[in-house]
Amino acid sequence: MARVVLDKIFKTYPGATGNRPAVCGVSLDIADGEFMVLVGPSGCGKSTLLRLIAGLETADAGTISLAGRVVNAVPPKDRDLAMVFQNYALYPHLTVFDNLAFGLKLRKLPRAEIAERVRAAAMQLGLAEVLDRLPKALSGGQRQRVAVGRAMVRQPKVFLFDEPLSNLDAQLRAATRAEIGRLHARLAATMIYVTHDQVEAMTMGDRICVMKDGTIMQVAAPSDLYNSPANLFVAGFIGSPPMNFLPGTLEKSPSGFAFVASNSSRHAGANFKFELSAPYLSTRVADHVAQPVMLGLRPEHLHVPLAVSKLPVVPERSGDGDSPPLIAQIELIEPMGAETYLHLRVGENILIARIPPAGRHVLGEKLTLTPDLTHVHLFSSVTGDALR
Ligand SMILES: Nc1ncnc2c1ncn2[C@@H]1O[C@H](COP(=O)(O)OP(=O)(O)OP(=O)(O)O)[C@@H](O)[C@H]1O
Ligand SMILES: [Mg+2]
Repeated sequence: MARVVLDKIFKTYPGATGNRPAVCGVSLDIADGEFMVLVGPSGCGKSTLLRLIAGLETADAGTISLAGRVVNAVPPKDRDLAMVFQNYALYPHLTVFDNLAFGLKLRKLPRAEIAERVRAAAMQLGLAEVLDRLPKALSGGQRQRVAVGRAMVRQPKVFLFDEPLSNLDAQLRAATRAEIGRLHARLAATMIYVTHDQVEAMTMGDRICVMKDGTIMQVAAPSDLYNSPANLFVAGFIGSPPMNFLPGTLEKSPSGFAFVASNSSRHAGANFKFELSAPYLSTRVADHVAQPVMLGLRPEHLHVPLAVSKLPVVPERSGDGDSPPLIAQIELIEPMGAETYLHLRVGENILIARIPPAGRHVLGEKLTLTPDLTHVHLFSSVTGDALR
């Protein structure tokens, strides 16, 4: 069993600017065999957390348990885990075989056992043909696989990956990503995986832990993180293009609640109002009437009329008949192949809509946007927390 439990971990590096902790009260319970992804902006403490688990750094406070045992005082080599780094320095003068065997030789495993483990790992990683080569005679992807192989041959209970694919080009990344996914399925080992990459986080993780400034913002399954972000930070961090945000206030309305955009500009279309459909709102919304809120809408939930209209924009009437519509002007068109992103100016805000590729839109065109109000997110502008 290799459950990893972090309990109120603190770590400040000696001499850190303003004594700012790199990790600040992190508690995280990672199940045996789980694939946990750590994401967050540069400097948020992802690598530090991984190094603490590995034993390469010492926590100032809190406990780290591996498989039910507190390991704070256990040296790295006795923790039964293996780490794959971004800069996977292979020994340049050793063959692939010897690179893979190196750690096992240090541990004085019997020769036959070493050979067996190396060959098994090489088979699984597609390195069997290159065991006699030096690292310089390998492609970037093969080198990366050797680095993963070095961890594999140790047969650890826990794998730690610190951005292992970031040196690879896009195609190799995708292939190696799938390989690590298969490896996880086959070994059933616990894996903790740091990445900057949205796609890696969303596709690989059983759960994703989003970090900011040394603290955890939310831990959830990828789809939960995407559909129900706990706060503005997670909402803006997960998803590409990111969620659109509109500042405004909540009002009581005859049919429940309405969102009224706050916009000091005189732009036509900037002073819109949405009736919010009650079934999709939580009871907490009632506590925020007349308070500043942020309305969030994913790009796929902002619908635009398909064809170019030669006519002046006729405001669509919304549900109750008197809500001013959301009128936007196209500032940028990004055709991505399978879809197109429209960058739309609404008063002072730029919104991004994800639309089918066939749209014949033109720059400067004015459109009436129809938000899918069943997918609205609301956040307190004061705390940033989701109102749900
Ligand atoms: N050895 C060190 N000495 C002092 N400060 C450090 C050290 N290592 C990291 N830090 C600081 O601790 C904070 C967290 O760093 P960490 O490397 O954990 O971030 P990260 O989330 O891995 O970032 P990145 O995505 O850039 O790799 C940062 O402010 C960093 O500057
Ligand atoms: Mg890092």
